[in-house]
Amino acid sequence: MTGASGAMGEAAVRALARDGRSVVMACRNLEKAEAVRSRILADLPGADISIGRLDLSSLDSVRAFADSLGQEQVSALFNNAGVISRGYSLTGDALENTFAVNYFGPFLLTRLLLPLMDPEASIVNMISLTCRYVSVTEKSLRPSADEFSQLGTYARSKLALLRFSRELARRNPGLHINLADPGIVNSNMIDLGHWFDPLADILFRPFCKSPERGVQPALSALASDGRNRYFVGRKIMDIPARFEDPNLDLRIWEETERILSM
Ligand SMILES: NC(=O)c1ccc[n+]([C@@H]2O[C@H](COP(=O)([O-])OP(=O)(O)OC[C@H]3O[C@@H](n4cnc5c(N)ncnc54)[C@H](OP(=O)(O)O)[C@@H]3O)[C@@H](O)[C@H]2O)c1
Repeated sequence: MTGASGAMGEAAVRALARDGRSVVMACRNLEKAEAVRSRILADLPGADISIGRLDLSSLDSVRAFADSLGQEQVSALFNNAGVISRGYSLTGDALENTFAVNYFGPFLLTRLLLPLMDPEASIVNMISLTCRYVSVTEKSLRPSADEFSQLGTYARSKLALLRFSRELARRNPGLHINLADPGIVNSNMIDLGHWFDPLADILFRPFCKSPERGVQPALSALASDGRNRYFVGRKIMDIPARFEDPNLDLRIWEETERILSM
């Protein structure tokens, strides 16, 4: 599970460990991850939780993490990590940072872990309601500084992840690939770095969902034996028809492979 050191990440690791699952926390900040693990172990002594280093903004780090798993069997992958970059920046791989963390990293990680998964393994990708308000094509994957906007680029990166999920499911019909949308959740993610954040903290945060509640759709998706479903709140739906475009999914897949030299 990626993003296991974050707000919903901690809630998910705790819930999965309570269910007796072995969890690998794939995190970039090992100190933060160790603190999360210690808190959970204090409540659930004997829980099987390990930590691996994974920085999704670095393709080399993604490859090294996948290598570190060796031949370990993976029954489920939860692509939970995400970021809303405050400004335009490029990673060491010359990818825009939001797209690197929210899309390219999970794309590569998932592809590298497929050989470790049994044919009916579960993959859950965390998307966002912001996907509804944007569109994405193969030309959107590497935005320029002029094309960057904090929320727009975030939304497009999540929509690209959705489109990846659709094409992956077509190619791997046995896998249980589902999407989860947590709603608006009280976490660091909703601190956008604006002057009005302190005001929003007072007026807005109390009405956001707790991380424990926000992560419920993803936990339901991980436990589900359904496929191609969209988990949002307490609802489980088909992926909305407006996201149905197999040709576009394929073009984005092929362009991503080209960019990643796969
Ligand atoms: N909060 C919301 O309202 C909301 C709404 C819709 C969707 N989501 C999605 O839900 C997921 C979890 O978000 P959250 O609310 O729990 O936010 P969060 O507390 O900020 O957690 C984000 C997680 O992603 C990790 N991460 C960020 N950049 C990374 C990188 N380069 N490499 C590896 N991991 C990285 C963070 O690691 P560090 O601990 O090292 O920072 C953290 O563990 C995200 O995908 C987010 O987009 C959130």
